This record gives sequence, structure tokens and C-alpha cells, in this order.
Amino acid sequence: MTDEPWGAKPLFMVAVLMLVVTACGDGAGDEIIEQDPVLVAEGADSYEASCAECHGSDLRGTEKGPSHLSILYEPGHHGDGAFQIAVLIGATAHHWDFGPMPPVEGLSEDDVEAIIAFVRQRQREEGFEPYPP
Ligand code: HEC
Repeated sequence: MTDEPWGAKPLFMVAVLMLVVTACGDGAGDEIIEQDPVLVAEGADSYEASCAECHGSDLRGTEKGPSHLSILYEPGHHGDGAFQIAVLIGATAHHWDFGPMPPVEGLSEDDVEAIIAFVRQRQREEGFEPYPP
């Protein structure tokens, strides 16, 4: 209408960006919610069978892999997607000196979802270890 067609747009964009940023920021430092106990129990079994060899039955790591109770793995930093991806394609050695994590075979997306519920529940109950340890 006016000679300044972009007048209101930048403000609008800022508002949208702030929405996106706060939505993505969820998790960092927030309390982890109580997980579904059925899922947690399923996840505990799969974790023991497929992850504990390196990450430890108590999640606190072994000589082959890091602790999932490290603050590094809180939901705001390593979200649920990071778990699905690590299982699917593995992970390069980038935070620790254990070497890379190989992909883990034989787990469905639902299995990994249960594993994530188990890990989140343990993180909720035990709290986090500092990084670096
Ligand atoms: C053979 C050993 C081994 C097994 C088995 C293993 N991991 Fe790992 N995992 C590692 C190592 C080593 C790292 C650390 C890589 C780094 O950041 O230096 C890692 C890192 C990760 C990470 C972080 C990936 C990232 O993006 O930084 C996740 C999530 C993870 N593991 C989940 C799992 C889950 C879930 C299982 C079981 C389904 C599992 N791991 C089984 C060795 C293993």
C-alpha cells in the first residue's frame, strides 16, 4: 500500500525465527519427563543385548565406549534422532578416544525408541556426569 512494502516483514520474520529457536531449544537443561515403564522395560532388555557391551549395563561406559550418562548425551545435545542414526549408520569417533561406533544390526526403529526411553529414564533418575569426565 505504501512506498515501504517491506515495512512489517522483518518483524514478522523475527517472530517466526524466535518460535523456531525456542521450539528447537526444548530439552537443553529441561527436566526429562517420566518415560512409559513398559517401553523402558523393553528398552532395558535391548540395551543389555545390543549396547551394554560398550556402553555398560549401568550406562556408565566401558573400555570400549562412553557413558550415556555423560551430560553430552542429554536430550538437548544428543536428541532421540542421534540415537536412531548411531544405531543405523554408527558414529565416528569425535567426542572420545574409543574409536568409531559400528552400526548395530537387528534393531527396528521401535526397538531403538524403547532403548531411548530406557536411557532417558536412567538419565532422569541418575542425573548427568560432567564432560569431559
Ligand atoms: C562396539 C561398541 C559399541 C556398541 C555395541 C554400541 N556403541 Fe554407541 N558408541 C560407541 C562409541 C565408541 C561411541 C563414541 C563415539 C565418539 O563420539 O567418539 C558411541 C556413541 C554413541 C552415541 C552418540 C553418537 C553421536 O552422535 O555422537 C549414541 C547415541 C550411541 N552410541 C548409542 C548406542 C546404542 C543405542 C547402542 C545399542 C543399540 C550402542 N550405541 C552400541 C560404541 C558402541
